[in-house]
Amino acid sequence: MSFNEINIKDIPESAIELFGKRWALIGAGDEKKHNIMTASWGTLGRLWNKDVAVVFVRPQRHTFGIIEQEDFFTINFLDEEYRNALKLCGEKSGKDLDKFSASSLTPYYVESTTAVEESKYSIVCKKISKSKMSPCDFLDDAIECFYPNEDYHYIFIGEIIKVLEK
Ligand SMILES: Cc1cc2nc3c(=O)[nH]c(=O)nc-3n(C[C@H](O)[C@H](O)[C@H](O)COP(=O)(O)O)c2cc1C
Repeated sequence: MSFNEINIKDIPESAIELFGKRWALIGAGDEKKHNIMTASWGTLGRLWNKDVAVVFVRPQRHTFGIIEQEDFFTINFLDEEYRNALKLCGEKSGKDLDKFSASSLTPYYVESTTAVEESKYSIVCKKISKSKMSPCDFLDDAIECFYPNEDYHYIFIGEIIKVLEK
């Protein structure tokens, strides 16, 4: 295990590149019950005088139930060689299988939550806000097309408490 702790400002890629190009694995849960889920929607920034990460999780995701119960979650960015693992974690549900085993990834427990040992960067977040998108707040009619089943995302805002680099 060879992680160094760094500052979020030391990650050389923008949030758009990290989420949009690398994609993320959201990790949640503890040593007994945990899961990872691929996410390409999310951001990093400043809010309430804190460094924060924001992720968007639909309510039917197995990950949603686990993040809801826990105080911490992780956002993990891996290198291109793990693209197939990320695809698997974006297609299969932790309701049906252990995605760490299925994708040959390794859980790494940190701050009472679960990260991914193969990550280039792991961001450990303390959950500080949860809210649900509401269609009456959408100002662009085009957004509704993402929700034919009205499964509006939940917005989880996490205070960034630790950033690990491989
Ligand atoms: C590239 C990619 C990006 C995704 N981004 C998100 C996302 O930001 N939010 C979300 O709720 N689901 C997203 N998904 C879908 C979930 O990863 C997928 O439904 C997954 O199977 C859920 O796993 P779980 O049920 O174990 O939580 C994405 C899938 C892929 C392939």
